Amino acid sequence: MTYNFDRCPDRRGSESVKWDLYPGTLPLWVADMDFPIAPEIQQALQQRLNHGVFGYELVPDDYFTAIGQWFATRHGWEGIGRENIVPTTGVIAAYSAAIKAMTVPGDKVMVMTPCYNAFFPAIRNNKCIQLDCPLLYDGKSYIIDWDLLEQKAAQAKVLLLCNPHNPAGRVWTREELLLVAGICQRNNVFVISDEIHCELTFPGHDYTPWATLPDEFVQNSVSCISPTKAFNIAGIQIANIFAKDPAILAKMDRALNENECCDVNVFGVTALKAAYNQGGPWLDQLRNYLFHNARTVACFLEDELPQVNVLPLEGTYLMWIDCRGALREGESLEGFSERFGKFLQEKVQLTLSVGSIYGAAGEGFMRVNIACPRSRLLDGMQRFIVGFEQYKNA
Ligand SMILES: Cc1ncc(COP(=O)(O)O)c(C=O)c1O
Repeated sequence: MTYNFDRCPDRRGSESVKWDLYPGTLPLWVADMDFPIAPEIQQALQQRLNHGVFGYELVPDDYFTAIGQWFATRHGWEGIGRENIVPTTGVIAAYSAAIKAMTVPGDKVMVMTPCYNAFFPAIRNNKCIQLDCPLLYDGKSYIIDWDLLEQKAAQAKVLLLCNPHNPAGRVWTREELLLVAGICQRNNVFVISDEIHCELTFPGHDYTPWATLPDEFVQNSVSCISPTKAFNIAGIQIANIFAKDPAILAKMDRALNENECCDVNVFGVTALKAAYNQGGPWLDQLRNYLFHNARTVACFLEDELPQVNVLPLEGTYLMWIDCRGALREGESLEGFSERFGKFLQEKVQLTLSVGSIYGAAGEGFMRVNIACPRSRLLDGMQRFIVGFEQYKNA
């Protein structure tokens, strides 16, 4: 079956965060997709809806089987089952509970910035201290600053890893993850790997599940997984924490209970099973479409606006653009992303994500959500060019 990603329903007025928070602007910001979900998932949800009763639900065995089969066949990650998974309402709930379980107030939680902005409140809410380990940017792309990581790891209790990385667009290689793992092991740092973007990788950049590293590294870690990002069902809210060590899994279960987020949405269970059991062909076509969207943006801006650097997108549907070329003469970098973002909204009615919300290391950058029909994306990029020139010359 062929799926059509060029046609999307109108989301305006549907209480969508993306479309209805800044009405009248073209929203290429928050991370959900404009595409309708796979018809296979919609049919499964419809069938569940037709039942008409939505009381509390036990998480059935075939939920865990679906997860296990998906990760084994698609990602070579064997051995996932009911005995090493706890379900919860979302990935934020998952990593927040994991922080709670593995820290005491005042502990330091390390993040590689720029990183997903909702990492920061989870660290604060657990009364921990955020320890930034900025990625190294050479004007083209990001790598991990190994010396700094080693240095910071000596002070940290936990590493909150984003694998693949939002917003840098990096899909960490096995070699990189092994180096990270070695550093964490030497410094007794517990790893929480947020793998929500794991399905969305592009040719030549395969996702490495943290849990497929050698056992000695996996014991002191958990992985947070969910089909919601890849299958565009984030509003349904479902996720899972994987831990190899039963004692760690019990701690996760306890923390989820203390946070009162250990029950799942009946539709989340249905949607997850349909996604993992039947969603593969849809996902493959989506990845292909997104890959071409990413190339379209990169080529378009390279030709039309060489003053920006579009970072190579290895995975996720979130492009990261170095916009410092728009700085006016003498303008301070501090607060630039925010000013530039506001300007784009007001002058060309385009909403992007402001780079500085991803940490100080994101200042000067903007994040673009490319998960929409290509014509809409091109409209957005045209607005971006006009806004860029107007800002620079204002
Ligand atoms: C890295 C990362 N983790 C977690 C989330 C949110 O997960 P959830 O909606 O399941 O809480 C996002 C959403 O964009 C994300 O990018």
